[in-house]
Amino acid sequence: MTHQTHDRLLIIDFGSQVTQLIARRLRELSVYCEIHPYQNVTMDFVAAFAPRAIILSGGPDSVVRDGSPRAPDGIFDYGVPILGICYGQQVMMQQLGGLVEGGKISGGGGTAEFGRAYVQAKGELPLLNGWFADGPEQVWMSHGDHVSRLAPGFDVFGTSPNAPYAITADTDRNFYAVQFHPEVHHTPRGATLYENFVKLAGFKGDWTMNAYREEAVAKIRAQVGDKNVICALSGGVDSSVAAALIHEAVGDQLTCVFVDHGLLRKNEAEEVVGMFRDHMNLQVIHADETELFLGELDGQSDPETKRKIIGRLFIDVFQKYADQIEGAEFLAQGTLYPDVIESVSFSGGPSVTIKSHHNVGGLPEKMGLTLVEPLRELFKDEVRALGHELGLPAHFIARHPFPGPGLAIRCPGEITRAKLDILREADAVYIDQIRKHGLYDEIWQAFVAILPVRTVGVMGDGRTYDYACTMRAVTSVDGMTADYYPFSHDFLGETATRIINEVPGINRVTYDITSKPPGTIEWE
Ligand code: XMP
Repeated sequence: MTHQTHDRLLIIDFGSQVTQLIARRLRELSVYCEIHPYQNVTMDFVAAFAPRAIILSGGPDSVVRDGSPRAPDGIFDYGVPILGICYGQQVMMQQLGGLVEGGKISGGGGTAEFGRAYVQAKGELPLLNGWFADGPEQVWMSHGDHVSRLAPGFDVFGTSPNAPYAITADTDRNFYAVQFHPEVHHTPRGATLYENFVKLAGFKGDWTMNAYREEAVAKIRAQVGDKNVICALSGGVDSSVAAALIHEAVGDQLTCVFVDHGLLRKNEAEEVVGMFRDHMNLQVIHADETELFLGELDGQSDPETKRKIIGRLFIDVFQKYADQIEGAEFLAQGTLYPDVIESVSFSGGPSVTIKSHHNVGGLPEKMGLTLVEPLRELFKDEVRALGHELGLPAHFIARHPFPGPGLAIRCPGEITRAKLDILREADAVYIDQIRKHGLYDEIWQAFVAILPVRTVGVMGDGRTYDYACTMRAVTSVDGMTADYYPFSHDFLGETATRIINEVPGINRVTYDITSKPPGTIEWE
């Protein structure tokens, strides 16, 4: 826990799938908040955290079940405003002397409610400022159990056909409890409820990127002292922003290693190294290990074997260069908040999500390095905002994700230098087309893959026998699921023509219209 200078809000997590969205909504209001699983929240913890308000999240359990999760009783005497959401509402009612009835799922006779519902106003409440101006409000319900008797001191301020206690409050104690999920998209004006809640709790909205930058710099200086830091710079947004921030804090005590495996896009190494070295004055080692990587990949066509070779070599190479940096005691990583949130797993215990494909996994222990992770408290869009603050160019911050194994997983089958050269050219033409048509920011990720097949064509008067390639473009939120991007036929035709005309070695272009699932975004 950090940032004692900010107003802080504590979210006690009961395991809802959408708890992270509560944090998102609050951060959008410039409110600093942290999510902690209910098992870890003792009253000592609360006292140390010193929240100005508390939110109890939803969760999959049933409060009528013996042994189901509870909040520490003491929080109801702690004297700060509390908002309970769904399971959080039921916990409040149960712990404060009301009654919750089990729905069919938990063996009771009550009515479950899943999906859209409409809440009617029933009295005025500062929490509801801006609501009900146009009649009933659409909300998202997702509950098996429901409250059947309010706890003493509570009144009803909104009802829905299946939730007579949809919005409840004890205004004397500043306790609020709603049956629905205001944090999700399907409660269109849910953000207003959070805004009203933090206002009435007295939050100043002091969580800004500028404040974060200053505090993070001070914290890095305190952690690192006069020791040296190394950073594996990939050219991706996270490692770039982490490097820029650490550089601002400790200057030349930071050395970045850019591992060039020869599987990068056209001009990528020059652009990334040039930007950091020449424009931002960072010490960057350009580790050109193309020969090593392509040598070991020679003749390999199995996707997993290719990935394993690249992963192993990456670590070897990084270690080789890091060993040459004198006095390095710290390793910088661009870990983000979604990677470190401890969520309540359905098996009951807290579980931690760990970035599975981290490029330098295992290295810190092996090399005796301590981690510096200055982005641990940020969401992806906050990292981008911080990148802007630090002066990284806008086009760089908005770049599509690029996988660690690079073009190797866009070159199914055996990798050859000739194929990689063709692929780089085709990809450059495709991305140029996307930018020219103003589509780059609408697309989550776009690239060309070169297919391990040659096809017959005719160009001019001659027969050709060249490679086929495929264009991929997807929309997505987090890369876990994805839809193909619906380009116009004109765009597809124009781009295919350009690739065939401008890239020797390609005589056929296809467009991949597979969603994820069942496909993956990359081809391997
Ligand atoms: P898939 O192909 O699994 O990709 O649907 C989902 C997202 O992850 C990226 N990706 C990787 N990123 N190391 C990375 O840093 C990897 O090994 C890796 N494999 C896939 C992929 O580009 C997409 O954005």
